[in-house]
Amino acid sequence: MILNFGSINLDLVYRVPHLPAPGETLASDSFAKFLGGKGINQSIAAARAGAPVRHVGCLGPDSDWLRGQIAGLGLSLDDITAVDTPTGHAVIYVDDNAENQIVIFGGANRAFTTAQIDAALNSASDGDWVLLQNETNLVGYIAEQSRARGLNVAYSAAPFDPDAVQEVLENITLLALNAGEAAALSQKTGQAPAGMGVDHVLVTKGAEGAELHMNGQVLQQASFAVEAVDTTGAGDTFLGAFMARFVTGDAAHALAFAAAASAIQVTRQGAAAAIPRAEEIDRFLHAT
Ligand code: RIB
Repeated sequence: MILNFGSINLDLVYRVPHLPAPGETLASDSFAKFLGGKGINQSIAAARAGAPVRHVGCLGPDSDWLRGQIAGLGLSLDDITAVDTPTGHAVIYVDDNAENQIVIFGGANRAFTTAQIDAALNSASDGDWVLLQNETNLVGYIAEQSRARGLNVAYSAAPFDPDAVQEVLENITLLALNAGEAAALSQKTGQAPAGMGVDHVLVTKGAEGAELHMNGQVLQQASFAVEAVDTTGAGDTFLGAFMARFVTGDAAHALAFAAAASAIQVTRQGAAAAIPRAEEIDRFLHAT
């Protein structure tokens, strides 16, 4: 089981000819709302890839549409707590090159309580993985409590904050970060992420692929060339799909599977709704 303590956002997505410069007013000719948030994107990617997933999250009073989306994508709402704080949201600009710029409002994602966390962890079993990102509050507490219970902990270092990484470092089993975040962490600490004592370090490098450092060994994975229309949630899709296959044991296959999942996801609009299922990913892999 993957127990993901993760954010849920309403993504407000505007297509723009280019990303706005400081002080610039831009007209957008397309607006759409989507389910998003790094946490739920990763949960959906793992679940669609076939892993058993429980998503532990918080939603505000204004969240009926998001609840419908989550249930429609096959995830249970049982571990999602209703809070008074407004639901988290993201304002996202996507340009003609499929690049994006994102501003997030944490809202309900920052209303986790220790009681909610303890209750979820109390029902975890040996061998379960806890998945965390940096869009919720109490991340350090969750990592510490999970490790104390002997659970495996994966931490996605996004949005990146070197202090937040250092807070969880001693309690995590897997650190996932992109190349820019890996460079920033090395600069801040004077150490490469792979040398920080974490068992598994996954570095995604966009078009240059990904690498997994584990026990002194490095597995490399090339990316698949596709025509991207929207890269929002690509990293989340990679990690969720990777976790789904990694937890069952084959790291090299997990990397290839994750690269295929994110290659498919960027060819569609939106974050969570664009995430492919295992059958589609397997077909893509066999066709390449
Ligand atoms: O990683 C993509 C996600 O980042 C978006 O879905 C948005 O909600 C922000 O959290």
